[in-house]
Amino acid sequence: MEKLIIANWKEHKTVREALDFLEKFESIIKSIPLAEKQIVICPPFCALSEVSKFVITHHLPVFVGAQDVSAYDGGAYTGEVSATQIRELAEFVIIGHSERRKYFNETAKVIQKKVSNALSANLTPIVCVRGEKDEISENVCYVAFEPVEAIGTGNPEEPKKVEKMFTILTGDNTERKMIYGGSIDQDNIKVYTKIPRTAGFLIGGASLEAESFANIISAC
Ligand code: PGA
Repeated sequence: MEKLIIANWKEHKTVREALDFLEKFESIIKSIPLAEKQIVICPPFCALSEVSKFVITHHLPVFVGAQDVSAYDGGAYTGEVSATQIRELAEFVIIGHSERRKYFNETAKVIQKKVSNALSANLTPIVCVRGEKDEISENVCYVAFEPVEAIGTGNPEEPKKVEKMFTILTGDNTERKMIYGGSIDQDNIKVYTKIPRTAGFLIGGASLEAESFANIISAC
């Protein structure tokens, strides 16, 4: 099955640091076979434009993604960035990450609006859920199961539990693509690639260094 390997840089990297990463990543990625693999890099908003420019001018085999999108489609919403604005620079957007739900009080209703705006602007949403209680809109293609206890702790969820949750979250929607995120690194990824239905990984900490992210891609 084709794998989507997503780097979620969170609130890390200045523009210069993002470009340094890409320069290093470019030299490593050339030697990695990428059949059946799609790479998405999600920098912070401030680096989106430069990352996008680098990817285009260097023909880097990666897609660019944003880490969030406004629930409003343009207008007087100070500090927000709309799906239409993001679409000029990116193809994907992460929506509903547990950090946004926790620190920015994002509700299911807000997340639903974000998904709908992303889809209208032709941006592909990657919707993060913490478990089966979080809603998933019917038209969402990529669903990332990210158990809160596994994020940034070095303790990924047990593969058997991930497999079970993938089945539950897929439900009747066989088109839905299941992604796992939470403490995946170059040393533990191999077992997770064997979980049935796995369509990719959302990588936080281990995506910040070009070498470790490339090793993860290699192992997928
Ligand atoms: P982590 O983060 O890989 O650092 O655990 C994953 C995520 O939050 O998307």
